[in-house]
Amino acid sequence: MDITEVIQHQHDEQRRGFAHLEEWPREDHEGLAAMWRRLSVLLETHAEAEERYFYPRLLDLGTGAADADDTAEEVEDAVHDHNALRAAIARVAEAEVGSQDWWTAVVDANTENSDHMGEEERQDLADFRQQATVELRHEIAVEFLRFQARHSADGVEPRDKDPQDYAAHAGTGSRAGGREGAAPSVTASDDAG
Ligand SMILES: [Fe+2]
Ligand SMILES: [Fe+2]
Repeated sequence: MDITEVIQHQHDEQRRGFAHLEEWPREDHEGLAAMWRRLSVLLETHAEAEERYFYPRLLDLGTGAADADDTAEEVEDAVHDHNALRAAIARVAEAEVGSQDWWTAVVDANTENSDHMGEEERQDLADFRQQATVELRHEIAVEFLRFQARHSADGVEPRDKDPQDYAAHAGTGSRAGGREGAAPSVTASDDAG
Protein backbone atom coordinates (compact mmCIF):
# COMPACT_ATOMS: atom_id res chain seq x y z
CA MET A 1 0.00 0.00 0.00
CA ASP A 2 1.00 3.60 -0.52
CA ILE A 3 -0.71 6.53 1.22
CA THR A 4 -0.36 8.72 -1.86
CA GLU A 5 -2.21 6.12 -3.93
CA VAL A 6 -4.88 5.65 -1.24
CA ILE A 7 -5.54 9.40 -1.15
CA GLN A 8 -5.56 9.69 -4.93
CA HIS A 9 -7.97 6.76 -5.22
CA GLN A 10 -10.33 8.27 -2.64
CA HIS A 11 -10.28 11.58 -4.50
CA ASP A 12 -11.54 9.75 -7.57
CA GLU A 13 -14.22 8.13 -5.41
CA GLN A 14 -15.25 11.58 -4.14
CA ARG A 15 -15.47 12.95 -7.69
CA ARG A 16 -17.66 10.00 -8.68
CA GLY A 17 -19.82 10.51 -5.59
CA PHE A 18 -20.64 14.08 -6.63
CA ALA A 19 -21.22 12.93 -10.22
CA HIS A 20 -23.69 10.29 -8.99
CA LEU A 21 -25.64 12.95 -7.10
CA GLU A 22 -25.82 15.15 -10.19
CA GLU A 23 -27.38 12.28 -12.16
CA TRP A 24 -29.65 11.04 -9.37
CA PRO A 25 -33.46 11.25 -9.84
CA ARG A 26 -34.29 14.65 -8.31
CA GLU A 27 -37.53 13.47 -6.72
CA ASP A 28 -35.85 10.56 -4.85
CA HIS A 29 -35.05 12.49 -1.69
CA GLU A 30 -34.48 9.34 0.37
CA GLY A 31 -31.90 8.16 -2.16
CA LEU A 32 -30.26 11.58 -2.34
CA ALA A 33 -30.01 11.69 1.45
CA ALA A 34 -28.45 8.24 1.59
CA MET A 35 -25.99 8.96 -1.23
CA TRP A 36 -24.98 12.27 0.34
CA ARG A 37 -24.61 10.67 3.75
CA ARG A 38 -22.15 8.12 2.42
CA LEU A 39 -20.20 10.75 0.49
CA SER A 40 -20.05 13.16 3.44
CA VAL A 41 -18.71 10.41 5.73
CA LEU A 42 -15.99 9.71 3.14
CA LEU A 43 -15.15 13.42 2.82
CA GLU A 44 -14.95 14.01 6.58
CA THR A 45 -13.08 10.85 7.51
CA HIS A 46 -10.69 11.43 4.60
CA ALA A 47 -9.86 15.00 5.71
CA GLU A 48 -9.51 14.01 9.37
CA ALA A 49 -7.29 11.03 8.54
CA GLU A 50 -5.10 13.24 6.35
CA GLU A 51 -4.72 15.68 9.24
CA ARG A 52 -3.90 12.89 11.69
CA TYR A 53 -1.58 10.73 9.65
CA PHE A 54 -0.48 12.32 6.36
CA TYR A 55 0.12 16.02 6.94
CA PRO A 56 2.25 15.61 10.10
CA ARG A 57 4.68 13.48 8.06
CA LEU A 58 4.59 15.91 5.15
CA LEU A 59 5.58 18.65 7.62
CA ASP A 60 8.52 16.46 8.67
CA LEU A 61 9.76 15.62 5.21
CA GLY A 62 8.31 17.97 2.62
CA THR A 63 10.24 20.58 0.68
CA GLY A 64 7.44 22.43 -1.11
CA ALA A 65 6.44 21.07 -4.50
CA ALA A 66 5.13 22.54 -7.74
CA ASP A 67 3.71 26.01 -7.11
CA ALA A 68 3.96 25.92 -3.29
CA ASP A 69 6.43 28.27 -1.61
CA ASP A 70 7.26 25.76 1.11
CA THR A 71 5.79 22.87 3.07
CA ALA A 72 4.20 25.06 5.76
CA GLU A 73 2.30 26.93 3.04
CA GLU A 74 1.18 23.64 1.49
CA VAL A 75 -0.11 22.40 4.81
CA GLU A 76 -1.75 25.68 5.87
CA ASP A 77 -3.60 25.74 2.55
CA ALA A 78 -4.76 22.16 3.01
CA VAL A 79 -6.09 22.71 6.53
CA HIS A 80 -7.78 25.95 5.45
CA ASP A 81 -9.47 24.02 2.61
CA HIS A 82 -10.54 21.21 4.95
CA ASN A 83 -12.17 23.78 7.26
CA ALA A 84 -14.02 25.31 4.29
CA LEU A 85 -15.17 21.87 3.18
CA ARG A 86 -16.43 21.04 6.69
CA ALA A 87 -18.40 24.31 6.67
CA ALA A 88 -19.92 23.48 3.27
CA ILE A 89 -20.89 20.00 4.50
CA ALA A 90 -22.55 21.59 7.54
CA ARG A 91 -24.59 23.86 5.23
CA VAL A 92 -25.83 20.78 3.34
CA ALA A 93 -26.95 19.27 6.65
CA GLU A 94 -28.93 22.41 7.52
CA ALA A 95 -30.94 22.39 4.27
CA GLU A 96 -33.92 20.25 3.37
CA VAL A 97 -32.78 17.34 1.21
CA GLY A 98 -33.49 17.97 -2.47
CA SER A 99 -34.36 21.66 -1.99
CA GLN A 100 -32.69 24.46 -3.94
CA ASP A 101 -30.68 25.40 -0.85
CA TRP A 102 -29.55 21.79 -0.48
CA TRP A 103 -28.34 21.58 -4.07
CA THR A 104 -26.59 24.94 -3.76
CA ALA A 105 -24.76 23.69 -0.68
CA VAL A 106 -23.85 20.39 -2.39
CA VAL A 107 -22.41 22.28 -5.37
CA ASP A 108 -20.46 24.52 -2.97
CA ALA A 109 -19.02 21.44 -1.26
CA ASN A 110 -18.11 19.99 -4.66
CA THR A 111 -16.38 23.22 -5.67
CA GLU A 112 -14.43 23.47 -2.41
CA ASN A 113 -13.40 19.85 -2.64
CA SER A 114 -12.45 19.92 -6.33
CA ASP A 115 -10.21 22.95 -5.88
CA HIS A 116 -8.62 21.40 -2.82
CA MET A 117 -7.99 17.99 -4.37
CA GLY A 118 -6.29 19.52 -7.40
CA GLU A 119 -3.90 21.45 -5.20
CA GLU A 120 -3.34 18.52 -2.84
CA GLU A 121 -2.45 16.22 -5.72
CA ARG A 122 -0.22 18.77 -7.46
CA GLN A 123 1.65 19.89 -4.34
CA ASP A 124 1.29 17.64 -1.30
CA LEU A 125 1.14 14.18 -2.85
CA ALA A 126 3.89 15.05 -5.34
CA ASP A 127 6.09 16.39 -2.54
CA PHE A 128 5.56 13.31 -0.40
CA ARG A 129 6.27 10.90 -3.24
CA GLN A 130 9.57 12.66 -3.79
CA GLN A 131 10.62 12.67 -0.13
CA ALA A 132 9.18 9.66 1.74
CA THR A 133 10.29 6.05 1.62
CA VAL A 134 7.93 3.39 0.33
CA GLU A 135 8.02 1.83 3.81
CA LEU A 136 6.71 5.01 5.41
CA ARG A 137 4.10 5.43 2.68
CA HIS A 138 2.90 1.90 3.47
CA GLU A 139 2.78 2.50 7.22
CA ILE A 140 0.76 5.69 6.87
CA ALA A 141 -1.66 3.95 4.50
CA VAL A 142 -2.31 1.35 7.23
CA GLU A 143 -2.92 4.04 9.88
CA PHE A 144 -5.15 6.05 7.54
CA LEU A 145 -7.32 3.14 6.39
CA ARG A 146 -7.55 1.74 9.91
CA PHE A 147 -8.92 5.05 11.22
CA GLN A 148 -11.37 5.37 8.36
CA ALA A 149 -12.63 1.81 8.68
CA ARG A 150 -13.28 2.30 12.39
CA HIS A 151 -15.37 5.41 11.62
CA SER A 152 -16.98 4.30 8.37
CA ALA A 153 -20.41 3.69 9.91
CA ASP A 154 -20.92 6.84 11.98
CA GLY A 155 -18.36 9.27 10.55
CA VAL A 156 -16.30 11.62 12.67
CA GLU A 157 -17.14 14.72 14.67
CA PRO A 158 -16.04 17.61 12.39
CA ARG A 159 -13.21 19.53 14.06
CA ASP A 160 -11.72 22.65 12.46
CA LYS A 161 -8.03 23.33 13.03
CA ASP A 162 -6.23 26.66 12.96
CA PRO A 163 -4.09 26.42 9.79
CA GLN A 164 -1.06 28.34 11.09
CA ASP A 165 -1.12 26.64 14.46
CA TYR A 166 -1.45 23.23 12.83
CA ALA A 167 1.42 23.86 10.39
CA ALA A 168 3.61 25.08 13.27
CA HIS A 169 2.95 22.19 15.65
CA ALA A 170 1.55 19.10 13.91
CA GLY A 171 4.86 17.74 12.62
CA THR A 172 6.18 14.76 14.52
CA GLY A 173 9.57 16.44 14.88
CA SER A 174 11.32 13.50 13.25
CA ARG A 175 12.94 13.34 9.85
CA ALA A 176 12.93 9.54 10.04
CA GLY A 177 11.12 7.98 7.14
CA GLY A 178 12.75 10.22 4.59
CA ARG A 179 14.64 8.65 1.77
CA GLU A 180 17.87 9.05 3.72
CA GLY A 181 16.51 7.70 7.02
CA ALA A 182 15.01 4.53 8.38
CA ALA A 183 11.24 4.29 8.47
CA PRO A 184 9.99 4.64 12.06
CA SER A 185 7.80 2.10 13.74
CA VAL A 186 4.18 3.15 14.02
CA THR A 187 1.97 2.85 17.06
CA ALA A 188 -1.22 4.49 15.95
CA SER A 189 -4.04 5.42 18.25
CA ASP A 190 -7.28 6.84 16.90
CA ASP A 191 -7.68 8.78 20.10
CA ALA A 192 -4.33 10.53 19.91
CA GLY A 193 -4.17 14.10 18.73
FE1 LIG B 1 -7.43 14.42 0.09
FE1 LIG C 1 -7.24 17.04 1.87
